Amino acid sequence: MEYSKLKLSEEKVFKDPVHRYVHVRDQVIWDLIGTKEFQRLRRIRQLGTTYLTFHGAEHSRFGHSLGVYEIVRRITDDVFKDKPNWNGKDRLLSLCAALLHDLGHGPFSHSFEKVFNLDHEAFTQQIILGNTEVNRVLQKVGRNFPKKVAEVIAKTSENKLVVSLISSQLDADRMDYLLRDAYFTGVSYGHFDIERLLRVMRPHDDQAVFKYSGMHAVEDYIMSRYQMYWQVYFHPVTRSAEVILTKILHRAKVLYVSDYTFRHQPVHFYSLFKNEPALADYLKLDEHIMLYYIEVWQEEDDPILRDLCTRFVNRNLFKYAEFDPAKEFQVHSRLEKLFREVGIDPGYYLVLDSSSDLPYDFYRPGEEGERLPINLLMKNGELRELSRESDIVEAISGKRRTDHKLYFPLDFIKDMTVHGDKKRQIAALLKQF
Ligand code: NI
Repeated sequence: MEYSKLKLSEEKVFKDPVHRYVHVRDQVIWDLIGTKEFQRLRRIRQLGTTYLTFHGAEHSRFGHSLGVYEIVRRITDDVFKDKPNWNGKDRLLSLCAALLHDLGHGPFSHSFEKVFNLDHEAFTQQIILGNTEVNRVLQKVGRNFPKKVAEVIAKTSENKLVVSLISSQLDADRMDYLLRDAYFTGVSYGHFDIERLLRVMRPHDDQAVFKYSGMHAVEDYIMSRYQMYWQVYFHPVTRSAEVILTKILHRAKVLYVSDYTFRHQPVHFYSLFKNEPALADYLKLDEHIMLYYIEVWQEEDDPILRDLCTRFVNRNLFKYAEFDPAKEFQVHSRLEKLFREVGIDPGYYLVLDSSSDLPYDFYRPGEEGERLPINLLMKNGELRELSRESDIVEAISGKRRTDHKLYFPLDFIKDMTVHGDKKRQIAALLKQF
């Protein structure tokens, strides 16, 4: 029998706190889950440093990836099955893309990608197409199959309907992470009726659309997303931990390049520090390895690396002040100067961080980052863009909200025993004490 059609003799299930069970019948999916590249996702947290703010947020990308797979499985095996516009042949392609969509994430992706100028999506492509266990499983389906899966994840596939299931403004990825992140952080936002959403989903020419009767479930999803961004994803304390992590990696790289002798050699980072990240090295990195270095670098001779690592380990994070870079750019340069005068390196200890989100956007062809709109399927068979029908969605459509904060170690400034006058100036500029 063809490998792509091979079923397990008995269905396997994973107990899942969000979807109750994740069901696996296909041999291909079972084999992919067993690869070492997929198992690596167990060692990468879904929400990076968020566990330092919401202690429940220890869940991994492994669980999320299974969740996205399960949602797509329900769509293909139940909601879309035998519907016009849906080609059953796309089922396995959709399931594999869903399962593997986050495969290239590194440890603490946000900080990691920033410092080393990497892109997890590029690594996802390399893992699917390169010399890996995942690639060998996909090859058994067909010689071109790895490429097809990679194209769906990269959104370059001609099969737009399948792409929209995995990445659009209302896709299985977002549905899973909103519910999962709400569950594990324990917040009361982020919940919406996924049963209802899936029930009203329909395959259309080139995207999944939602029956008009389910509009309120879609609204609920958009509002959860909006609230999760500001209450969880952009939480200032999480960002503070991220800022410190970014500076740790940055400092270690600077030291490595300047021939500093580490007490604990960063062997896992050599190829990254040299700006030649090799796939094999990248796959060896996970959050256990990162936390190991942060732990042992507390003993380094370099005072900056030592201090930043100690802060991270003991959660002695930077404090923050609201900051408007457009109006207060002079404040920033004055602070930098004062920091230098009192012996604190502003490159590591005075950090401007900005977050911004666009909760929902409708399609404006040709514009930068154009997004496919969410379309409602009206009773007469026409499609209507969501914000034309929903007042709630219209109110937040296309509105980008940005939040700027300045991060700094308040304890350093408080503990200063000399430079009394400068200490007061710094405190005033940072609106502290
Ligand atoms: Ni994802």
